[in-house]
Amino acid sequence: MRIAWITDPHLNHCALAAWDRLISQVLECQCEAVIISGDISEGEDVVFQLRRLADAVRLPIHFVLGNHDFYHSSIDRTRAAIRNAAAEHPLLNYLTDSAPVSMGGVALIGVDGWGDATVGAYERSTVRLNDFRLIDDFFLAAPSLWKSILLDLGQGSARRLQSLLLSAAELHKSLLVVTHVPPFRQACWYQGQTTDDNWAPFFVSGQCGDALIDFAQSHSDSTIDVLCGHTHSGGIARMRDNLAVTTAGADYGNPEVAAVIVISDGQVTLERKAGC
Ligand SMILES: [Fe+2]
Ligand SMILES: [Fe+2]
Repeated sequence: MRIAWITDPHLNHCALAAWDRLISQVLECQCEAVIISGDISEGEDVVFQLRRLADAVRLPIHFVLGNHDFYHSSIDRTRAAIRNAAAEHPLLNYLTDSAPVSMGGVALIGVDGWGDATVGAYERSTVRLNDFRLIDDFFLAAPSLWKSILLDLGQGSARRLQSLLLSAAELHKSLLVVTHVPPFRQACWYQGQTTDDNWAPFFVSGQCGDALIDFAQSHSDSTIDVLCGHTHSGGIARMRDNLAVTTAGADYGNPEVAAVIVISDGQVTLERKAGC
């Protein structure tokens, strides 16, 4: 089985020629499904973009949302709209809201994830993402509450991930996990380096990382492959013998298939985009 993996396509930044290139790439990969690890567009048109993509490629699309997907809206409103869209469109599967999907001996699961202020130095950080201005949950809250909102979002994702990992392990030994924000600092690349304390609070989904490590250690017979994006810079971090995280890069305005995921005999391998 072959699956085209796209991350951070930011389709609202995408001219028609870039859109056509992306659709051609997906079709040329001769895949049976598509995975998107978030930042699909922004809150006001993410449903439109997902429907448009599904109608263009005519393949099942398994996706999670990234922080940009909530811009100009609230987190609850966006997730509700996405759940409705996925219920109505037979090709759209919002992994955050879905049971594990069995694919050729591999269990596919996903959660949105969030840079949750658990890694790095939140109090000393000079970084203030657009999230705080453009997502209602932050914009309508006092800045003194932002850290607790980030922690809650991270905790929500981590709890959901824990439950999905346990359900997925009942299906298969090989698990494929899709999330937007890298769950470890080691998987959070920028210009070939892992992120520093200034950016880490917003670029690492630390509570999801803890859930993954706990699961990997207590299920040594399972293999966990994690796919993520968010930093727009790629790399691979092997966190345990049975836990690897691949972060894919992305360019605004030029969305691409990052890799083809090949599932064969219950094993997951990644074919980089040159091979698709
Ligand atoms: Fe992004
Ligand atoms: Fe992002």
